[in-house]
Amino acid sequence: MTPNGPGAPLEQAEADDTATGGREALRERLAGSLVTARQRTRLLTDCVDDADLIRQHSPLMSPLVWDLAHIANQEELWLLRGVGGREPMHPEIDPLYDAFEHPRSERPTLPLLPPDEARAYAHEVRGRVLDLLDSATFSGAPLVNRGFAFGMIAQHEQQHDETMLITHQLRKTGPALTSVAPPAAPPDTLSLPAEVLIPGGPFTMGTSSEPWALDNERPAHTVHVPAFYLDTTPVTNAAYQEFMADGGYRDPRWWSAAGWEHRQRAGLTAPLYWRREGGGWLRARFGITEPVPPAEPVLHVSWYEAQAYAAWAGRRLPAEAEWEKAARFDPVSGRSRRYPWGDAEPTAERANLGQQYLQPAPAGSYPAGAAPSGARQLIGDVWEWTGSDFLPYPGFVAWPYREYSEVFFGTEYKVLRGGSFGVGPVACRGTFRNWDYPIRRQIFAGFRTARTAHI
Ligand SMILES: [Fe+2]
Repeated sequence: MTPNGPGAPLEQAEADDTATGGREALRERLAGSLVTARQRTRLLTDCVDDADLIRQHSPLMSPLVWDLAHIANQEELWLLRGVGGREPMHPEIDPLYDAFEHPRSERPTLPLLPPDEARAYAHEVRGRVLDLLDSATFSGAPLVNRGFAFGMIAQHEQQHDETMLITHQLRKTGPALTSVAPPAAPPDTLSLPAEVLIPGGPFTMGTSSEPWALDNERPAHTVHVPAFYLDTTPVTNAAYQEFMADGGYRDPRWWSAAGWEHRQRAGLTAPLYWRREGGGWLRARFGITEPVPPAEPVLHVSWYEAQAYAAWAGRRLPAEAEWEKAARFDPVSGRSRRYPWGDAEPTAERANLGQQYLQPAPAGSYPAGAAPSGARQLIGDVWEWTGSDFLPYPGFVAWPYREYSEVFFGTEYKVLRGGSFGVGPVACRGTFRNWDYPIRRQIFAGFRTARTAHI
């Protein structure tokens, strides 16, 4: 791997950001991202009563009211204090909302702000932040350069919105969220090839120019990826049920040693939230029970299950570099783009993001978001497990704090890519890296498979 320069269009964007017109556009984009995130936070916290907000729905998750005040506390820390130089508003509550001081299981026992006070705190911080944003110049200190800290906070809130959506899925106190179903898959879905070829050769992985990219996405560097085939779409429930029907959960041949040990200990027999009824499968989804839709990407499977399915299918999980090449590399220009479809921002036509729906769209949806190879739904719908451990790129520098990524690097975590229906567009791009333990199933994760092309 060798260091590599950023792509030309984003260098141009950097120059634009410092011009007056660009600065106003950036200010508007940041304000819009913060407002969108807050609308979602309110939707997720106003749809249940106070008792539900302070209850711990699962030891895996915080009470929703913790997320709400933590969002506000981080916003105050980074923007009002860090960028604005203001005095702390309530220094005594900082330790309560420090994610590293208290594990999630402990948080309900803390003297947390009650719901009305948490809402008032979040509202007050946001008002002051919007004032600060009005006069921000976006140049000078690295934290404000090109609006980074504001962008980071909008991403942070959207990440917690996804966390709160996971809590909603774990709730057992009845449905609180509603949404329409995504449209049926487009007619050409049935004629799509099962896999697409990604050409071999070097490509630029990671970024040095994406303004709100987090430290683990940096820097841009060249990686050689041999030719490989990748599933055109994520693996569907129907395909996953074939693995189940073929005894996939009972056959140690398909599982890694650690995966088989976990499968036995945890008693895994199907994706999380599934149960058998009669000859078919039902699933629980945000408080309703429904038949498992065959055409939808499979969801709520661990890395171990994804890996076993891939082995059963005679394939493997894509390496992280393979996934990113499939999602970003344009063979015509030889350049890595921001998204599979190009450099333009996600839209409702390109990807299932931002909790527009409460489920993935059927496999084969979003032709407007396809990659040059023809692969669909790389962005949105389901997080996709890759075969790779979460490791730093060559030249990694922890920023703006070690606890964002550096403390998680190692072989304990597997990388997920692409974002789910529950991720806000601001927190999802071709370079964005997510990570989790290989046993995790409550996250909105599925996968697709790959094989090396011997050509
Ligand atoms: Fe956080």
